[in-house]
Amino acid sequence: METGMLHLHNVLRWVILLLLLVTLYQAFTKKESIRSSSLWLMIAAHTMLLIGLYQFIAGRYGITKGLPEGVELMKDSFYRFYWVEHPLLMIVAIILITLARGKAKALNYKNTGWLLLIALIFILVAIPWPFREAGAGRAWFPGM
Ligand code: HEM
Repeated sequence: METGMLHLHNVLRWVILLLLLVTLYQAFTKKESIRSSSLWLMIAAHTMLLIGLYQFIAGRYGITKGLPEGVELMKDSFYRFYWVEHPLLMIVAIILITLARGKAKALNYKNTGWLLLIALIFILVAIPWPFREAGAGRAWFPGM
């Protein structure tokens, strides 16, 4: 179950990035189909939030497992990333995607575009890319 959740969390990142780019493109080219793409994006983002919360609470590095002996949260780059930076930035990005959905529904292309652009930057910064330092980096695809 834990591995399945992690794999899903890994793959869904690509779905979200793809939907974000499509929806952003539609915002800048003023396409009415933004109504449905923004909805799918919001559904994917909220699913990610639920899986993320599960991992954050009950996953192998979840808060209920506690910090290992001698580790100080804000001084340890691995735990600081997975307990603070990653969840915080991603939750803000998901809130922005949710706000963007409201704007997209009203065909307010400009505000949708800006909200999604900021969300995209937050997500790109907070993803544990393989080249990330201090052991926090993860594979491009699950099981790699
Ligand atoms: C758009 C939103 C998000 C994206 C794109 C994202 C992306 C990722 C990726 C790619 C990984 C590495 C998966 C792997 O090792 O194969 C990861 C791990 C993790 N994410 Fe997220 N995430 C998002 C939201 C969240 C949220 C909202 C939370 C918590 C509330 C969260 C908590 C975690 C935790 C705790 C891990 C480490 C799990 C472990 O190693 O056991 N994520 N995330």
